[in-house]
Amino acid sequence: MSKEIVLSGIRPTGFLHLGNYFGALRNYVRMQEDYECYFFVANWHSLTTHPDTKELQHSVHRVIAENIACGLDTTKAALYVQSDVPEIAELYLYLNMLAYKGELEKTASFKDKVRSNPENVNAGLLTYPVLMSADILIHRALYVPVGKDQEQHLEMARNFAERFNHRYGEVFPLPKAFNYNSELVKIMGLDGNGKMSKSENQMATIYLADEDDVIRKKIMKAKTDSGPTAPDSEKPDYIQNLFTLMKLVSTEEVYNQFDANYNGCSIRYGDFKKQLAEDMANFIKPIREKAADIQNDKLFLSKVIKEGADKARESASKTLHLVRAVINMNY
Ligand code: ADP
Ligand code: TRP
Repeated sequence: MSKEIVLSGIRPTGFLHLGNYFGALRNYVRMQEDYECYFFVANWHSLTTHPDTKELQHSVHRVIAENIACGLDTTKAALYVQSDVPEIAELYLYLNMLAYKGELEKTASFKDKVRSNPENVNAGLLTYPVLMSADILIHRALYVPVGKDQEQHLEMARNFAERFNHRYGEVFPLPKAFNYNSELVKIMGLDGNGKMSKSENQMATIYLADEDDVIRKKIMKAKTDSGPTAPDSEKPDYIQNLFTLMKLVSTEEVYNQFDANYNGCSIRYGDFKKQLAEDMANFIKPIREKAADIQNDKLFLSKVIKEGADKARESASKTLHLVRAVINMNY
């Protein structure tokens, strides 16, 4: 039986961070064992908000290197760069005819970006979810491992797929956002504001490229408070976020101990953060070092990128063939 298809992408708009790791990459690494996987660097998407391309090549190489350093095995999964697969652009064009201006304008990510960057509201930004749908549908993917922030985009991808199938004929399965523990993940910033993200407050974000002492400094500065005042009280979201991180990088014993201390009102945040900082530094160190080695090996990088593009184009051209056939565009 053929395996179910998985696709996901990350924009090369900065250094990867713990949100990317726990929302996306960690799932990629597990999924590559059981599914036919396509993972890519969304460099076309980055142009919607980052028109300056001086750093783009470097960023694309870094994202590829960080994906591999996190455990992605390019003999199992296809790892490629979006702009190497022109079939995506053609599918994007067809899907654009099925997307309505009104629904695109209502998308939360579009409204956020208009608010934060009112002088660059370009058509690419408006149709961002259409390009993302083309990324997914070009491989007829079923599962899309992403963080919680991408839920709405996935819903739109299902709508476009359904409209296409209805208008032209059944070509696409309806893709779903995926996380192993069912709930999609959202890692907050260490300052307790919004999600950890590539472009926002750097002190509140832990990058996979951060040195040990930078990680320690950031965690020691993370937002806390004067501690719980009643036993078994609910954790405020910024404290819960630190516990979430601890669950991800510390042993179960360590986590249970601090959780019990919290519930018994005896937690000392200084000790808690010190332990988290050590475990986090130990977790990130091998990833950082491996990514740096890969990034310096340009020959290896270009071989990986070429092989990824070949695998992706093989799958993409099959889908495009079906698409053209049902639209009556195969002359
Ligand atoms: P960023 O938002 O940092 O620019 P991307 O938009 O390229 O990163 O996101 C790449 C992947 O990482 C997506 O699947 C996204 O859902 C996930 N992701 C990004 N930030 C977080 C976060 N703070 N928590 C959980 N997942 C996240
Ligand atoms: N929009 C995604 C993000 O900002 C990146 C992305 C582009 C993506 N195309 C995709 C994610 C296709 C999953 C599937 O994180």
